[in-house]
Amino acid sequence: MSNKVTKAVFPVAGLGTRFLPATKSVPKEIMTLVDRPLVQYAIDEARAAGIKEFIFVTSRGKSALEDYFDNMPYLEEELRRKGKTELLETLQATNMESGAIAYIRQHKALGLGHAVWCARRLIGDEPFAVMLPDDVIAAEKPCLAQMVEAYEETGGSMVAAMEVPYDRTSAYGVLDVQEDMGSMVSVKGMVEKPAQGTAPSNLAVIGRYILSPSVLENLNTMKEGAGGEIQLTDAIAQEIGGPNNVYGYRFRGQRFDCGSKAGFLQATVAFGLAREELRDDLASFLQEIMLAQAAE
Ligand code: UTP
Repeated sequence: MSNKVTKAVFPVAGLGTRFLPATKSVPKEIMTLVDRPLVQYAIDEARAAGIKEFIFVTSRGKSALEDYFDNMPYLEEELRRKGKTELLETLQATNMESGAIAYIRQHKALGLGHAVWCARRLIGDEPFAVMLPDDVIAAEKPCLAQMVEAYEETGGSMVAAMEVPYDRTSAYGVLDVQEDMGSMVSVKGMVEKPAQGTAPSNLAVIGRYILSPSVLENLNTMKEGAGGEIQLTDAIAQEIGGPNNVYGYRFRGQRFDCGSKAGFLQATVAFGLAREELRDDLASFLQEIMLAQAAE
């Protein structure tokens, strides 16, 4: 079995209830940070890590996602005719090679583990990445590329990890650390959404994974876990003690939880400020409202 990671699974079949009513008709992954949908950030990060095949696990009501990845020859022609070269390049950068992208349905939102399992036949017997587009990570070297590099040394399974405040651990999968080697930790246990005060550490799992195909086998027999859902964390934890070790990787970068309203707004501000053409106006607007708020 090769250690090369060329396939990524994007589980996007969740209900997105935290963004109702918007998600009645707009998939969460199509919501935009500045001018690009969340899913475009994830695709770009995957490409930068050498991913060649993109597998989307979708659900009813997500057809806007499939449309997004269609080429738009008429629009391209129109932009070319009008000499709008920059916009044309922006648009073309989103084109996907024919056959590089596949969609598979999760017929019921039974959990993240179940969503990944739905892609098992397309993954086959090789290590694969899982990316949750609502975790957006701003980083000099994209997070998945950092992980792929580390994974070449370790093999096994690897999850992106980050320290969170102890009182927030119950919202995450949390690592029980065996050995802390700095950017990498080896893992002796994993708990999904531990009850307040029971977390084995404050090192939380973030939505980037590189997994051994044996995790898919674990999912074959998986029962419901935390929240009544089939949890990916449990299937990864089942690897511990077997031939494939599990590692946590402390990535370098800033993660935004765009699955929550507060995180999405923070990301919008951060990504807006990172754009040269928007920075000055946005910064002075923010200053103004902060001053006005302080004066209240
Ligand atoms: P979340 O826990 O954020 O759930 O899922 P959600 O449904 O997207 O959003 P809320 O909590 O209702 O607002 C984490 C990731 O797992 C996927 C989601 O699409 C998201 O990318 N997921 C979750 C599935 O694909 N299928 C599931 O059954 C559950």
